[in-house]
Amino acid sequence: MRYLLALVVPFVLLLGGCGSDEQPPPAEPATSASAVPGAAPDLDPVSGLKMTGDWRIVRSACTGCHSGKQITQQRGTAEQWLTMIRWMQAKQNLWQFDQVTEDKIIAYLAENYPPAKSQRRALLTGDQLPPNPYATTGGM
Ligand code: HEC
Repeated sequence: MRYLLALVVPFVLLLGGCGSDEQPPPAEPATSASAVPGAAPDLDPVSGLKMTGDWRIVRSACTGCHSGKQITQQRGTAEQWLTMIRWMQAKQNLWQFDQVTEDKIIAYLAENYPPAKSQRRALLTGDQLPPNPYATTGGM
């Protein structure tokens, strides 16, 4: 009988332990300054950066060596921004960021300064151009 108890008790304890499946706390609702759709974020008067999301991290990480204009005039995908950062780390003494900080910087940059559509107008078509004085239409 004692032998049997020794077998049963740990088993019951084990089951009891499994019974309490705690639910993880509900995820916090995502809050973001850009929550208002269509509202353009204000610009930081010092750096010129858009004051949204993790802009403070970017300001402190990215405006020590050059002005914020260097950033706001630039456009790129996350990959292109990462390439620029790697280039500065390799050539311009930019320090390493920890992964979390780097991810936040890249996300901010790619979201707020994404690749722009071409700034140049489309080429004019023939009927939008003035007559070509050098055209040789064969009639001499
Ligand atoms: C340690 C100094 C330093 C820091 C910090 C720094 N940069 Fe730079 N960055 C430079 C230098 C030097 C240049 C090239 C010289 C110049 O144009 O002023 C440059 C150039 C750039 C350019 C222009 C690249 C091009 O192709 O014209 C961009 C964009 C840029 N940096 C973005 C950033 C971002 C984003 C951060 C923050 C992650 C950052 N920089 C932080 C030193 C730095």
